[in-house]
Amino acid sequence: MLEQITINKSLSRDEKYKSLLPQIESLVEGEKDLIANISNIIAALKYSLDGFFWVGVYFRKGNELVLGPFQGPVACTRIKITDGVCGNTVQEKATVIVDDVNKFPGHIACSTDSKSEIVIPIFNGEEVAAVLDVDSEKFANFNETDKYYLEKVCKLISELMKQPF
Ligand code: SME
Repeated sequence: MLEQITINKSLSRDEKYKSLLPQIESLVEGEKDLIANISNIIAALKYSLDGFFWVGVYFRKGNELVLGPFQGPVACTRIKITDGVCGNTVQEKATVIVDDVNKFPGHIACSTDSKSEIVIPIFNGEEVAAVLDVDSEKFANFNETDKYYLEKVCKLISELMKQPF
């Protein structure tokens, strides 16, 4: 039976995440397929939070990041682990928030509508195995609240990646 995600639109962003997180956990409970679970997590994020214009995962394959499940316009398929905001996240092994993508040297513009961005690492032990990338059509759409909760989502994804699927 498909569970619906319900988020009250009048909640603050912090409250939306607090309401969303347990719903995401129960959405993936009992399903082992990684791509199916990540696809639903991405959709839950995109349609629950404001200004989430593009949401997706890139998986690290050698020296590249390769596009995985996403919601939003068509995006770059491969990104070098040294390039763009995504590559910067792999190098830094830490979440990167960009308030204005035009001011980030080396930013890769998959869409000209993207104005700000947050990229969160998904770890396998000490290594970055993937990244979660969220673009917004608004400037400065992401802050420490997004970092805090999206890192929790990425922790869940890293647990899912450990399971056989
Ligand atoms: N802007 C990213 C590229 C991926 S797209 O935003 C979907 C970057 O600079 O790495």
